[in-house]
Amino acid sequence: MIGIFDSGFGGLTMVREWLKISPEYDVLFLGDSARTPYGNRSITTITEFTEQGVLSLFAQGAKVVLIACNTASSDALRYLQSKYPEKKILGVLVPAVEEALEKTRFGRIGIIGTRGTIASNNYTQEIQKRISKFYNPSEKRAVKEPVITSVSAPLLVPLIEEGWIKKPETRMILKKYLFPLKHAHIDTLILACTHYPFLEQEFQKKMGKQCTIINSGAAQARKFRDYLQQHPEIEKNLSKKGLRQFYTTDSPDRFRELGSVFLGKKIGKHSIEKLEIE
Ligand code: DGL
Repeated sequence: MIGIFDSGFGGLTMVREWLKISPEYDVLFLGDSARTPYGNRSITTITEFTEQGVLSLFAQGAKVVLIACNTASSDALRYLQSKYPEKKILGVLVPAVEEALEKTRFGRIGIIGTRGTIASNNYTQEIQKRISKFYNPSEKRAVKEPVITSVSAPLLVPLIEEGWIKKPETRMILKKYLFPLKHAHIDTLILACTHYPFLEQEFQKKMGKQCTIINSGAAQARKFRDYLQQHPEIEKNLSKKGLRQFYTTDSPDRFRELGSVFLGKKIGKHSIEKLEIE
């Protein structure tokens, strides 16, 4: 089974993308909805919570765990990968960065996410680490040195969870957050948060059609499918009965309500269970 961990509900936007392209695999999703959001918490707390969540998914039978949450991936992934080298734990940053580097024309890349994601600086580091892999001097768009601009947007998660997607207040706040990115003339913008796909059209409209928008969850889903093709030894251990099991650390009713919005389809009552994690 594939385990997918998130700080709450947002990671279901990544599950939605995964199920679109690979519906045959069994998926266990855990949303730490009792302690969501992670975005403004300290690295120590985020790491502690993420470790508990990821280990719980392995305990439930996951063979590989994807961290869909950008904040948890930014703050805890490297630590978990070095603490548990025998376990397969993958995050969202590298897939999103690779997609951004494949698409950027001038290497002017923007990142927008929670405080935790932006403060970790890990997106920037992953871009800098990988840019040489994408550098090809014979290409017209060859980029040696990226110009990276990052912005934290702490107000967007609660606005999206409240369903304020089309409200003028949300558009105004978004415009303010996007100002430094527009000013930096970015050509590619990474939506480094599970919630932002709900505002993707608005991001595109405000940044203009010359700016490529990267949906990090969709990138993670696509890159994970490629990864499985390249790693048949891992792929063969993943069960494929189309099972979906959702775990929440809080009320299953609340999870069902908001989770169905994020997943884009109704989550059945019987496929949700409350899980105590510690
Ligand atoms: N899942 C988080 C992320 O992608 C957003 C919600 C939160 O702050 O927990 O960064």
